[in-house]
Amino acid sequence: MVIDPETIREDFPLLLSRKVTYLDNAATSQRPKQVIEAIAEFYRSLNSNVHRGIYELSQEASKVYEEAHEVVAKFIGSDDWRSVSFTRNSTESLNIIAQSLAEKELREGDEVIVTIMEHNSNVLPWVRLSKLLDLRLKVIVLGDDYRLDYDELASEMTSRTKVVAVTHVSNVLGTINDIKRIKSLASEAGAYLIVDGAQSVPHLPVNVRELGVDALAFSGHKMLGPMGIGVLYLRPELAEDLPPPIVGGGMVKETGFREGTLSYEVAEPPWKFEAGTPNVAGAVGLSEAVKYLSKLGMNNVEEFERGLTEYGLKELTTELGDELKVYGPRDLKVKAGIISFNICSANPHLIASLLSSEGIAVRSGYHCAQHLHQFIGASEGSVRASFYIYNTKEDVDKLANSLKKITKEIGKAGVKCTNPPKKSCC
Ligand code: ALA
Repeated sequence: MVIDPETIREDFPLLLSRKVTYLDNAATSQRPKQVIEAIAEFYRSLNSNVHRGIYELSQEASKVYEEAHEVVAKFIGSDDWRSVSFTRNSTESLNIIAQSLAEKELREGDEVIVTIMEHNSNVLPWVRLSKLLDLRLKVIVLGDDYRLDYDELASEMTSRTKVVAVTHVSNVLGTINDIKRIKSLASEAGAYLIVDGAQSVPHLPVNVRELGVDALAFSGHKMLGPMGIGVLYLRPELAEDLPPPIVGGGMVKETGFREGTLSYEVAEPPWKFEAGTPNVAGAVGLSEAVKYLSKLGMNNVEEFERGLTEYGLKELTTELGDELKVYGPRDLKVKAGIISFNICSANPHLIASLLSSEGIAVRSGYHCAQHLHQFIGASEGSVRASFYIYNTKEDVDKLANSLKKITKEIGKAGVKCTNPPKKSCC
């Protein structure tokens, strides 16, 4: 199936009602009417708590909620629906796996490897743990063309390496990391492979079994689903083994009071990682989003976005020439639909606000990865345009033309067009 953004746009009420060129999809996507309607329908006709009622309505809601796990598991290539736990978002999923591994596995002197291109959500939990437990945190930087330095990664692996935590796709550079290659390095060292799929699962086919990941985190709201629902996939044996770091209602098999002492036994996965009343409507909405994407086909989504990215890079370079500095691979085989850049030496927030006055929505700043911006010599951050299935070549043309106009304006206002990277990299 060839993706036709004009037809797809018909499903997105916000894109029809607001005059906005929406290019901030890495921050959050828009939602189609099918997802909005599924959420509304849950509240209209099925609303009740799950796994807590013997009555018919609760049983029906529980069934729908369980089915959502199945739909999501299948989408990421898992044949075990219990491998999928619903959380609030990728950040929460990554915190859960980090805390759980800390409780079960990590000891003073163990090593955790992350990369410089991680989002804060896959950095902060490990920085925090390394301080609490006296772990050694190693950071792999970039090699050529804004790709991960795989040689450095290989050389940093030791018998003390317990965790490799890596993003599948950089939310700034768009770099697609070679997870299979990283998996084979992690396996040699006997380390767990934790993958942040927040920017990959919405945009390309991801198969957890083919990739061999131990854990995968992603968010519903970046893939046409609602905000407030995320996913933690755990390899089934790991899901059985690991302790839940958040405890309370719903995740427990039994509690006891014997000889003056309270105790509890945790439930089976996936419930043991879903403490408290879950976001059932969110799960229903995410399931509908997954069905929408599956109909399009993730190979088609990837191919479509690659075409748009290629077009975008070409148009921006043609219109802006040397005044444009793009951060990210030139090799489109390893690049997702994200273009981060700076114009001259202008502050990225200035560019984004001038784009906003032209009706264009992009993100500016550090995109939750200030460490990466420091490394690539963009100490004030960058402007980021990110694409999805409803973006058109006209959206890209509008961005390129507006940037050209803005560049002239800021040039007249005295902004120098030098923009040298402060550190030569990549
Ligand atoms: N993680 C999201 C982004 O990259 C919010 O913008």
